[in-house]
Amino acid sequence: MIIETFVLTAFQQNTRVVACDETRKAICIDPGEGSDELEKYIRDNDLELQAITLTHGHLDHVGGTTHLSKAFPDAEIILHQGDEHLYYGLPQQPLFMGIQPEQLAGLGMDYAAPPPLTRNWEHGEIYEVGNLRFSVRHCPGHTPGHVVLAEESQAKVFVGDCLFLGSIGRTDLPGGSYEQLMESIETNILSLGDDFSVYSGHGPETTVGYEKSTNPFLNGTYQIGKGKFF
Ligand SMILES: [Fe+2]
Repeated sequence: MIIETFVLTAFQQNTRVVACDETRKAICIDPGEGSDELEKYIRDNDLELQAITLTHGHLDHVGGTTHLSKAFPDAEIILHQGDEHLYYGLPQQPLFMGIQPEQLAGLGMDYAAPPPLTRNWEHGEIYEVGNLRFSVRHCPGHTPGHVVLAEESQAKVFVGDCLFLGSIGRTDLPGGSYEQLMESIETNILSLGDDFSVYSGHGPETTVGYEKSTNPFLNGTYQIGKGKFF
């Protein structure tokens, strides 16, 4: 299994190329922005990009879809239905963050309308990439249509912005819910097993076991509504 990470955007987002090393079939999980380096990596390594697989619709995870789709027009583009409004609303997303229209070009956020999605993720589906098999798990809370992709035979899970080393995804953006996120993490990530490697949308890799024991949101240190750690 090949996993190559590119840190892109002002948000330091982890864009990943994940491939089957036997068949060279590949996916790109969350292309954050248009990147010639990313495109070159796929071509130089003789990978066949079969899909752009989106964990959720935030701009720092989908902003490079247009560029990558133009470079590899046969690649599917897949997102859960619950985040379609974010994806197709990409040109407006920076404005909702308080960025002024005249600032967009300077920040590289003057997004065109993205290409049409090929289809939607379904919770519970198995998505095959060569000999890799990803189970697709709907994990709402950070956004309504967030999914994580788990390759169970390799004990690896790609969690987008649900879970980070020592933290969890923010839930204060429109469509976010702390209660939903905690339920999603418990049911669809922690249940995979302590030995699973966790690949987050921002920051370093971690494991399920390490987060269970040290992450203050998961080990009982922090309790929402109390306003403090204790
Ligand atoms: Fe996000």
